[in-house]
Amino acid sequence: MEKVTKYIDENRQRFLDELFDFIRIPSVSAKPEHKKDMARATEFIKDKLLEAGADKAEVFTTQGHPVVYGEKMVDKDAPTVLVYGHYDVQPAEPFELWDSPPFEPEIRDEKIYARGADDDKGQLFMHVKAFEYMNRTDALTCNIKFMIEGEEEIGSPSLKKFCVDHKELLLSDVILVSDTTMIAPDTPSITIGLRGLSYMEVEVSGPNRDLHSGLYGGAVANPANVLAKMIASLTDENNRITIPGFYEDVLEVSREERDEMAKRPFNLDEFKKSINIDHESGEEGYTTLERTGIRPSLDVNGIWGGFTGEGAKTILPSKASAKISMRLVPNQKSKKIDKLFEDYFKSIAPDGVKVKVKSLHGGEGYVSPIDTIAYQAASKACEVTFGKKPIPVRSGGSIPIISDFEQVLGVKSILLGFGLDSDAIHSPNENYPLFNFFKGIETIPVFFRYFAEMMK
Ligand code: BES
Ligand code: MN
Ligand code: MN
Repeated sequence: MEKVTKYIDENRQRFLDELFDFIRIPSVSAKPEHKKDMARATEFIKDKLLEAGADKAEVFTTQGHPVVYGEKMVDKDAPTVLVYGHYDVQPAEPFELWDSPPFEPEIRDEKIYARGADDDKGQLFMHVKAFEYMNRTDALTCNIKFMIEGEEEIGSPSLKKFCVDHKELLLSDVILVSDTTMIAPDTPSITIGLRGLSYMEVEVSGPNRDLHSGLYGGAVANPANVLAKMIASLTDENNRITIPGFYEDVLEVSREERDEMAKRPFNLDEFKKSINIDHESGEEGYTTLERTGIRPSLDVNGIWGGFTGEGAKTILPSKASAKISMRLVPNQKSKKIDKLFEDYFKSIAPDGVKVKVKSLHGGEGYVSPIDTIAYQAASKACEVTFGKKPIPVRSGGSIPIISDFEQVLGVKSILLGFGLDSDAIHSPNENYPLFNFFKGIETIPVFFRYFAEMMK
């Protein structure tokens, strides 16, 4: 038996107990009332890195939530791998839709159910345990650094500055990240593309108070009606985004690459079934995988205004709002898209209402080539532990800080994720299969071994 699988077998329960302690800390970055939990989560990781054998580990304060940094330097001539992950999680609401409490992890059907079980506590903890194994068995042939942040789920507002301020400390040959998904439990994948993001909030306001809909209805522009019309006009009958200039910087993907993408295993019926819809929908002329992988999108995340309580109240609301996000593809610039959106949204407002637009957060997409040493090492590692070559995929999700890493630190990232699309990240009943958790711990040391060998 491989040494690592033996180590995992012997320490299985302890790994889970420790992960569960980590998950029990409700480190929700979006909510100020969890500030103390953010500090507890950083202390937890710091302690685990030191227990696993880090030479040093430290919590750095930032303008926002703190960052944990740790390292073990084995040889100044050896390559250095910087592991990135995030200890913050999304809010767990709506609580009533969870089958077990979100911060009390529970194993059912061989899966860990909890907020953060996958995204990203479960995935980042695999690296801490893989490091522990490599260290205790003298198998560590790379220098290893950890940078674990607490603001990924709110757009990483402090991490870019942290990178600028600590460039020396973060010197590395590659950044290794497990915060993405694989195609299926038996089909490893390496993510070679991420989408960028522009996230906007809009408010349409009209009369100075809610009005009686009998006395005023029909004679006054209703901000909720107007908002609905304005949103509807942001996309056309082919589901293309109508904002002028929106597609200007989109790189068209070649027919060859699209044909290559189409070979990736994907079952449209299963996709529809898994989310209980009858028909998929998206930009005309593209497949479902292309719609999320290589094309931008625009979605309303929330919309509110007027009377939303039980029963009926006859009013015209004085204002209405929405949160609208656009997923961008590599080469589109989120700041430019923010501006195009704002200008266009204001331009389509009819007389009789005022419009406010603000940008909440955003970031750029990412593409990575597959002819790098890190990709080859990750590919060989998956071949060893899954018995299959991994498939390169372009994911629809975003991790905006990855493109900042490249810009500020000049280092590429390798996105070796072990989650599944069915893990319900950000949703009620988030889960992470035990198989994936342990497979990750098994695969990571193999990556390090190949990476050190191939960098020689
Ligand atoms: N880990 C996810 C991103 C992800 C998930 C990428 C699955 C690929 C596959 C990350 O934590 C996340 O949720 N990112 C946010 C972006 C952020 C700015 C809030 C997202 O994609 O919505
Ligand atoms: Mn994540
Ligand atoms: Mn997330």
